[in-house]
Amino acid sequence: MQTLLFQDPGLINEMAKPPKGQLLKWIGNKQRFARKIVSFFPDRFNTYYEPFLGSGAVLGTLAKDDSVGADSFKPLVEIWQTLARSPETLKQWYEQRWHLTVNHGKKEAYEAIKRSYNSHPNAPDLLFLCRSCYGGVVRFRQADGYMSTPCGIHNPISPGAFSKRVDEWRARVKKAIFVHAEYEDTMSKARKGDLVYCDPPYSHTQSILYGAQSFSLERLFEVIAACKSRGVFVALSIDGQKRSGRLKCSLPPADGLFEREILLDCGRSMLKRFQMNGLSLEDEVVHDRLLLTY
Ligand SMILES: C[S@@+](CC[C@H](N)C(=O)[O-])C[C@H]1O[C@@H](n2cnc3c(N)ncnc32)[C@H](O)[C@@H]1O
Repeated sequence: MQTLLFQDPGLINEMAKPPKGQLLKWIGNKQRFARKIVSFFPDRFNTYYEPFLGSGAVLGTLAKDDSVGADSFKPLVEIWQTLARSPETLKQWYEQRWHLTVNHGKKEAYEAIKRSYNSHPNAPDLLFLCRSCYGGVVRFRQADGYMSTPCGIHNPISPGAFSKRVDEWRARVKKAIFVHAEYEDTMSKARKGDLVYCDPPYSHTQSILYGAQSFSLERLFEVIAACKSRGVFVALSIDGQKRSGRLKCSLPPADGLFEREILLDCGRSMLKRFQMNGLSLEDEVVHDRLLLTY
């Protein structure tokens, strides 16, 4: 497998610009890397599949008509489906809850919305909670799935500002299809010449966020291999070394599955090397890796 450090800004496809602001706040989102990731997509492909959609940073940056975004988290998918079907409804959901914070105080309103969500997980409450919770980290209790994040210290953006984001995102994804599905189902739909981009919940830090404790990378690799054998292009984001270096995500053996590995975050590591007079600092390097089957 060939390893490339991402360095050349010329590789970025100028057409693929990320949206000005995020629609949803989502821990582990690929907002920062979305342009770079898209720049490594094949020049030509048919349908785009994103089976671990989250806040859709890559799908929103690619902004391709023929796209399918899917996730196993139902209330999240309902937000996307509402964006596609009725963006005005999304604006209303946000605005109604934002007014509660004005009328009752931010923290009181947030806690009431959180209670409402926890008694009956639903898209309108999740939309507001993800935008207003502490650090934008929607966190669920492992035992019972209870959303436990406290209120954020920031003030949630105004309905006017949110409405602009809805319009921008709606324009980008207006022809996309959003599906509530397990990744295996989504990936089984991809045909020769299609592209699948995977950003799975693999890391230690995400275990309480997305139920990643039960996630099997081995199984994902089997599904990727099946896609590759059908002629589907697959790109996979995977955690690189963390600051401690000891948390490097150990990959299951995947002989011959990936043709290229791209280390996206080499800028920071180069800086570190420079600061340390060129000493090798493997443990300090923070990389976000992109593995490609093509
Ligand atoms: C790392 S996040 C994706 C972040 C996304 N790239 C972004 O920019 O926001 C992983 C997502 O996978 C979803 N997920 C977890 N297990 C899944 C499964 N078995 N099938 C489909 N989606 C799953 C989670 O709900 C979460 O939204």
